[in-house]
Amino acid sequence: MTAIRSVVLGCGSYLPQKVLTNAELAARIDTSDDWIVQRTGIRQRHIAADDEFTSHLGINAARAALADAGVDAQSIDLIVVATSTPDNTFPATAVAIQNGLGINHGAAFDLQAVCSGFIFALATADNFLRSGAYKRALVIGAETFSRILDWEDRTTCVLFGDGAGAVVLDAQEQSGGTADRGILTTHLRSDGRHKSKLYVDGGPGSTRTVGHLRMEGKEVFKHAVGMITDVIIDAFKATGTSADDLDWFIPHQANKRIIDASAHKLHIAPQKVVLTVDMHGNTSAASIPLALCVAVRDGRVKKGDLVMLEAMGGGFTWGSALVRW
Ligand code: ACO
Repeated sequence: MTAIRSVVLGCGSYLPQKVLTNAELAARIDTSDDWIVQRTGIRQRHIAADDEFTSHLGINAARAALADAGVDAQSIDLIVVATSTPDNTFPATAVAIQNGLGINHGAAFDLQAVCSGFIFALATADNFLRSGAYKRALVIGAETFSRILDWEDRTTCVLFGDGAGAVVLDAQEQSGGTADRGILTTHLRSDGRHKSKLYVDGGPGSTRTVGHLRMEGKEVFKHAVGMITDVIIDAFKATGTSADDLDWFIPHQANKRIIDASAHKLHIAPQKVVLTVDMHGNTSAASIPLALCVAVRDGRVKKGDLVMLEAMGGGFTWGSALVRW
């Protein structure tokens, strides 16, 4: 029995030029490099320039992904952008990216699932491709979280950064087994009972302002590992695979302690874990494609490798995607 799979043709990423180190933060607020590194693993993050919007980051990442895939922008008929920091309340940042790429056919829309956004966007595009509705998709995670941080709040402002990453997905007929290339399974979950544990205290429909990120860090930490491991086990069960079969584990890059604890609980060997949180901080929906690109560029992730992606974030939302590269 054959199946249509969403095969990754290429990936690309973009980071703003400005790097903000822990030492620079410590010069502004009551924190230290030691505290940040010990609690989170973060050493630096990138910050977008004033005239650099989320769409600009996304366009650069998309161009890099198209070049890596070796395909023309005009072959793209679906663009899904995961972001919680859109250029404007509307229209979608996806149409700004679509326009920037010179595409005016097909569909482009934003999707908002905070730090889980890239997994939700990947699953959405995968479903559209497998249904036959579209043929080739750009899935982009792009964020300028620096714009929604309260830079006086040391409990949150040290954690986040800006960036964008993208993948090109192509609908291809495959055998239908787990040896296929492409997205093998996705699992998405949400539980709105936790919506006040990690949120932005503003919005067009409530305060008519943009607002700032607020978080009960300990509460997030408490739920993160269980939620992450649940959806990864769902992916293993759906495909008859196990941690031993994985070549790479590329988690959402929020916090090294959450990543280590999740990998440990799942018996995933530390050398299979891709870590970029030290260099990028938490870039929300951009963190997974940014990490993926680092591991592809440095030669770790190769064609045929089995890669587990996962994320958990505000909402709470959480999800996994098992991909054969
Ligand atoms: N620098 C120095 N001290 C700080 C800082 C800082 N940046 N931030 C907080 N502190 C202080 C606190 O004020 C507190 O001081 P007190 O004991 O005098 O009151 C002390 O450090 C301990 O604070 P806690 O909040 O208990 O610190 P904790 O060990 O829980 O670490 C952290 C905080 C890193 C946020 C942790 O809770 C965590 O990792 N949570 C997960 C949240 C996360 O990663 N969120 C990312 C977004 S969600 C996602 O993407 C999954």
